Amino acid sequence: MTEFDAAALDAQTQYKLLIGSITPRPIALVTTLGSKGPNAAPFSFFNGVGSDPAMLMFAVGDTSGHAKDTVANIREIPEFVVHIVSDAIKEKMNVCAIEYPLGVNEIEEAGFTALASKKVRPPRIAESPIAFECRLLQMIELGRVPYHVVIGEVVYFHYHEGIVDERFHVDVGRVNPIGRLAGRGGYTRITDRFEMPRLKLGGGVIEG
Ligand SMILES: Cc1cc2nc3c(=O)[nH]c(=O)nc-3n(C[C@H](O)[C@H](O)[C@H](O)COP(=O)(O)O)c2cc1C
Repeated sequence: MTEFDAAALDAQTQYKLLIGSITPRPIALVTTLGSKGPNAAPFSFFNGVGSDPAMLMFAVGDTSGHAKDTVANIREIPEFVVHIVSDAIKEKMNVCAIEYPLGVNEIEEAGFTALASKKVRPPRIAESPIAFECRLLQMIELGRVPYHVVIGEVVYFHYHEGIVDERFHVDVGRVNPIGRLAGRGGYTRITDRFEMPRLKLGGGVIEG
């Protein structure tokens, strides 16, 4: 075994171990709105956290010594839209990760199309196959950097045509999400899928 006591590692080393180990990570492309206009940025410390109501989280690190624009905007307007990043929009997503000053509209810089959201004030991005309009439930400040864990309630779901069937099953093959790996440019596609049904206690598998 290779092993490390976290107490003996600096923050950068722990970051490298985390992002190299927790892979692939889904990517949330998050739009927010503040007094200086809309903002878009990707975050791969991202996941769903519950379904009654539908809730998700992403974590923003103040790695440059001040709150990122996403956090500053959510403090002003506690609403945001989380977009799933597909292979088709990966380059535009990457433009949104540039550390522009507050007030620069990454949606325009990236060449995305902004659409009005239904229930929240920040705009949504037309090109993303899936968008979740969210209201802030909690923003938790953690750690020394610090990180802001943003937890939102999904109040409106958007899908491009043909992704969701009448039984509410989402066809991931039509979404083509990309996942984040480690390093400066590591990503993966969903090109090698398999199925493994859940097992029932006492034998057999859980259907559906
Ligand atoms: C794929 C990808 C994933 C990222 N994940 C995170 C993350 O989980 N947390 C974070 O703080 N920054 C993350 N970043 C960096 C932010 O996107 C970047 O700092 C961005 O400029 C922040 O924008 P803002 O200041 O407009 O909020 C990621 C960047 C990329 C390209």
